[in-house]
Amino acid sequence: MDMEIEKTSNEKLNFKDGTISFEDVDFAYGEKIILKDFDKQFYKGLNYLVGDNGTGKSTIMQLICRILTPDKGKITIDGQNINNIEQKNLFKHISIVFANPYLFKGSIYENIVVGNLNAEKSDVEEVCNLVELEDFIKNNGNGYDYDVGESGQLLSSGERQKIALARALINKKPILLLDEAMKSIDEETRKTMNNVLKKIKNNKTIIIITHNLSEIEKSSNIIKIPNTINLSKPTS
Ligand SMILES: Nc1ncnc2c1ncn2[C@@H]1O[C@H](COP(=O)(O)OP(=O)(O)OP(=O)(O)O)[C@@H](O)[C@H]1O
Ligand SMILES: [Mg+2]
Repeated sequence: MDMEIEKTSNEKLNFKDGTISFEDVDFAYGEKIILKDFDKQFYKGLNYLVGDNGTGKSTIMQLICRILTPDKGKITIDGQNINNIEQKNLFKHISIVFANPYLFKGSIYENIVVGNLNAEKSDVEEVCNLVELEDFIKNNGNGYDYDVGESGQLLSSGERQKIALARALINKKPILLLDEAMKSIDEETRKTMNNVLKKIKNNKTIIIITHNLSEIEKSSNIIKIPNTINLSKPTS
C-alpha cells in the first residue's frame, strides 16, 4: 500500500487556509482499532487534541505527517488528499515539537539554526526574542555561543523546550504540531510558551496535544479523541 501511495504522490501542496480535515478515517494497529469514522477538522489558529492515554492523539499527528496512512477515509490539507503529496514537500510545511526534544552538543545558535540552515543571525535573534530566551542569552556569559552540553544537559528543561520551539519556528512552516511539548516544564515557561502560541496563531495551524485542560484557550478548536478501547476488528 505504501508503495502505491509513493507512486502517486507527486503533487506539491497548494497551501491556502491551513485547514486539515480527517474525513471518515479508520485506523488500526493490527487488530487494535484506534480511529473509527473519525471526521474532524483542524483550522488555522489554536487546535487542542485531548483524550485519555492511548486513545490515539500521537497517532493522529503521525497520520497528518503521513508517517502512517489511514485504512479507510482520507486526510486533506486545504482539500488536497495528503496521499497525493510528495512526502518531502509535505514535510516542508510541518514542524513538530515533542515533550523531550533532542538537543545536540553545540551552541544555542547551532541548535536553533539546524531548523533552517538558510537562516540569518537576525532570524535566530528574532525567534529567541519571540520565545523569551533573550535574558538567558544576555546573562549566560557566552550569548548565542553558550554550549548546551551533551543532550542539552547544561540547560533547564524549560530552556531546552524554548530552544526546541525556537528551532521549530525559525523555518516558518505553516503547520506546527506540539505533542505534549509542555509536559515536563515549569509553570513560568509553560505560560511563556502558551503566550508565544497565541502570538503566532493567526498565520499557522497549530495542533497542541495536552493533558492539562486548564491551559486550553477557550475560543480555540478543541477535539476530544473518543476511546475506542471496546471496539475490536471483526474476526473473519
Ligand atoms: N506502532 C504501534 N504498534 C502498535 N500499537 C501502537 C503503536 N503505536 C501506538 N500504539 C498503541 O496505539 C494506542 C494509541 O497510541 P498513541 O500513542 O496514539 O496514544 P496517545 O493518545 O498519544 O497516548 P498518550 O496520551 O499516552 O501519549 C496506544 O494503545 C498505543 O499503545
Ligand atoms: Mg501521545
